[in-house]
Amino acid sequence: MSRILDVKNLIGGYGKVQIMNDVDLYVDEGEFVTVIGPNGCGKSTFIKIVFGIATYYSGSVKHKGEEVSGWRTDSLVNRGIAYVPQVDNVFPSLSVRENLDMGGIHLPGPLLNERIDEILEMFEDLKPRMSDVAASLSGGQRQMLAISRALISNPDFLLLDEPTAALSPLYQKQIIERIDALRSKGITVLIVEQNARLSLARSDRGYIFSNGKVVHTNKASEILTDPQINEYFLGTKKGD
Ligand SMILES: Nc1ncnc2c1ncn2[C@@H]1O[C@H](COP(=O)(O)OP(=O)(O)OP(=O)(O)O)[C@@H](O)[C@H]1O
Ligand SMILES: [Mg+2]
Repeated sequence: MSRILDVKNLIGGYGKVQIMNDVDLYVDEGEFVTVIGPNGCGKSTFIKIVFGIATYYSGSVKHKGEEVSGWRTDSLVNRGIAYVPQVDNVFPSLSVRENLDMGGIHLPGPLLNERIDEILEMFEDLKPRMSDVAASLSGGQRQMLAISRALISNPDFLLLDEPTAALSPLYQKQIIERIDALRSKGITVLIVEQNARLSLARSDRGYIFSNGKVVHTNKASEILTDPQINEYFLGTKKGD
């Protein structure tokens, strides 16, 4: 199995404000890996540094064996990496179709149509909504659109930042299932999730961040059954 992402000793933040402090994390091809941790611990920042939209200071970020630390986002997209941001991940005033078009402005029309058709097979709920503005979608449909938009560039490595935030439990489950299903299309997944249990249940491995650092990593099944982690990070209340 080859290593799709290999991060070592990563330090970075926003301009001069250092947030990440010496992070080691890897993702192998075909894996589903979840990052969890308290609010403000640097989960989004980590993904943003990897994707070239927050400031890289030092350390190594290898994609498929090649050093890509500090690379520009467009070059990373060309290598097959895509990212679904935590917030503002669709254009609310544009239609579903226009949002998808925006994800593929670099593609020739016929190829774009082909990609959109393929993606709609996975996210059928969007099919009848193509000419509606994104603002009219439900929260779950909006996340499906954001993920669809990221898939237009035909990535084989997807970075997702809290795709189930603010969704109903039914949609949370559906979104995680759909993301897991992307693996059968050859897509490797690195996800940041507040709904830790739900995401870890589908994951191969997990990382726990705290204060800009990795404080724990293990197989997802081990994390889910570790009593101490359950108490501190998975929100198990006494009597659960
Ligand atoms: N643009 C920015 N400039 C400076 N500091 C920022 C910026 N965005 C976030 N931060 C700070 O970076 C730290 C890490 O934030 P980050 O958004 O990565 O946390 P998170 O783990 O994703 O939290 P959440 O679970 O709330 O999404 C926080 O202290 C936050 O205030
Ligand atoms: Mg975040």
